[in-house]
Amino acid sequence: MADSNNRGEVVFEDVTRAVKTRKTEEIILHHCSFVVESGKLTVLIGPSGCGKTTIINLVAGYETPDRGKVLIDGIPVTRPDWERLVVFQETALFPWLTCYDNVMFGPLATKVMTRQEAHEQAIKLLEKVGLGDFMEKYPIQLSGGMQRRAELARALINRPTIMLMDEPFRGLDAMTRELMQEYYLRLVEESHGTHLFVTSEIEEAIFLADKLIIMTNKPSRAKRVLDIDLPRPRKAEVLRSKRYLELKANTLEILHEEAVKASRASGKADINIEASIRK
Ligand SMILES: Nc1ncnc2c1ncn2[C@@H]1O[C@H](COP(=O)(O)OP(=O)(O)OP(=O)(O)O)[C@@H](O)[C@H]1O
Ligand SMILES: [Mg+2]
Repeated sequence: MADSNNRGEVVFEDVTRAVKTRKTEEIILHHCSFVVESGKLTVLIGPSGCGKTTIINLVAGYETPDRGKVLIDGIPVTRPDWERLVVFQETALFPWLTCYDNVMFGPLATKVMTRQEAHEQAIKLLEKVGLGDFMEKYPIQLSGGMQRRAELARALINRPTIMLMDEPFRGLDAMTRELMQEYYLRLVEESHGTHLFVTSEIEEAIFLADKLIIMTNKPSRAKRVLDIDLPRPRKAEVLRSKRYLELKANTLEILHEEAVKASRASGKADINIEASIRK
């Protein structure tokens, strides 16, 4: 999935980010450095509360680092931009617009393409995510999985240089989640953009990723970067391959080290990570 125009590289250079509470200041990211390569799907995984959403917010330009730099193609991020779009866990579809009008909203607002071109792209994308028969429905008339797919179409129609996905499939049932991952991969494998996908699910992380960044506990930094050298286009069968199981065991081991450290530090294990490990 090499990017032909080689844009959309994200570099975290020694980033520190703290949040102030009423009495104290809590350091979330501490000397955190990593690279999200252009044209690749990088998945970021880490313990709950380690700062994954903070990282998405920093790339999106909703927050700025206290120290260090967040660079996109060498230029510091200073504000949000249509080139960097986020799909969150919570639905952000406009409830008063139909599925089709939600997807048309971005291109009509930015005028990056004609109405006719936007229309053709919207139909194509909605069909690709299996919503061809639901274009005139309002978000409330769609299931959770359908809403997630409409959001994918709504973001991708804008052809962002960088797609930021913050646990977009969290809360969906297992079957819907698997289906979403396959729809998503099909779109990514055609889009050639840079994707940064945050998850706390190990299986999802390895199934999707070209590169996997594993975070430490808070104050967090990138602990390891793994190359996920599973073949593309990626199909569900890969989940039964020897290489997939090796990568999963490797990731579990690294996350387990963090869970043990958290347990020692706080006297109780990080429940989310432990639950993942027991799977
Ligand atoms: N506005 C805020 N005020 C105070 N603390 C905050 C605020 N936003 C985030 N935090 C703290 O920052 C830390 C990192 O939050 P963040 O949401 O980035 O983590 P996360 O890894 O995305 O968590 P989760 O796995 O729950 O999604 C959390 O431990 C939280 O306590
Ligand atoms: Mg989060």
